[in-house]
Amino acid sequence: AAPLAYQVALSDHARSAEQRAAILAGELGFGRHFTDHMVAIQWDKANGWHDARVHAYGPLALDPAASVLHYGQEIFEGIKAYRHADGSIWTFRPDANGARLQRSAARLTLPQLPVAEFTESLRQLIAVDHAWVPSAAESSLYFRPFMIATEAFLGMRAAQAAAYYVIASPAGAYFAKGVAPVSIWLSEDYARAAKGGTGAAKCGGNYAASLLPQMEAQALGCSQVLFLDPVEGKYLEELGGMNVFLVYRDGRIVTPALSGSILEGITRESILQLARDRGLQVEERKVSVDEWKDGVVSGEISEVFACGTAAVITPIGQLKGKDFAVGDIDAPAGEVTMAIRKELTDIQYGRVPDRHGWLVRL
Ligand code: COI
Repeated sequence: AAPLAYQVALSDHARSAEQRAAILAGELGFGRHFTDHMVAIQWDKANGWHDARVHAYGPLALDPAASVLHYGQEIFEGIKAYRHADGSIWTFRPDANGARLQRSAARLTLPQLPVAEFTESLRQLIAVDHAWVPSAAESSLYFRPFMIATEAFLGMRAAQAAAYYVIASPAGAYFAKGVAPVSIWLSEDYARAAKGGTGAAKCGGNYAASLLPQMEAQALGCSQVLFLDPVEGKYLEELGGMNVFLVYRDGRIVTPALSGSILEGITRESILQLARDRGLQVEERKVSVDEWKDGVVSGEISEVFACGTAAVITPIGQLKGKDFAVGDIDAPAGEVTMAIRKELTDIQYGRVPDRHGWLVRL
């Protein structure tokens, strides 16, 4: 298909340069501020993708019968734009996010946006909102591309009409404490995914299902939940919005193998590559929660960390469960964790050569 032609209508209520500067100079946090524009592309079964627009950021008008509102037919992505020292703006592995959006779409019976159009949608938004890409250390512009089924029909079927949007949010650290170690609550009563379910798809429902255990974790003083496999309830899956890695003192780095119910994190995959490059022995396999507990107690496991686009790499200080707690929340972040974190962010921010060709200029 020919590339989509965009219609661009600039916002009448875009914030002034002063207002923008004040927001970017403040505490950005994560997901609280949004840029002045958004991308919208329509799809229907008869016409395919069409009507690509860049317009003012603002509310959507949806038919109240739209399938997304009833059956949760929604998928999303998370990807960032980084400002380099020379002012240029780059993103990280957009083909991987675009391909994952297609896999999520297939699982949720939504239409597949061509990967080149995924990257183009980010570029279109940057063309009008580039000034919103912050330049402070560790900050970025977080894109939230998402797709919803818009057909006004209460029967259940594959989407016959859908819309794809991109919004963007200038972001600092995902966790309030920055890169400091976090504590994790082991959820034994809830799973986030099922065998044969949607765990590998980036769909809103998975995240909605993780909120109740997440609230339980927070009430117990933890900032994230660890979910176990939904079949045996023994093996690590993920944190609900992040993948997890264990670092062994003997030079091994271990992460749960993709099980079909774990999100295929692009940060996860990039870390596996960087770890191999550093000569670490990389293992993608089943990891039981007992292995984590015992390894921390014996000292065999020296570091544990979480990773994701939003959280980058965040050290995990402690794992808590109903009747145990291992690790030390006050211990400093691990060396391997911080070295990989530095290498990944050095690539993203253009401070070292991009050996793997992961950066794409927007
Ligand atoms: C991301 O890391 O981009 C995500 O989508 C995770 C979400 C919990 C913020």
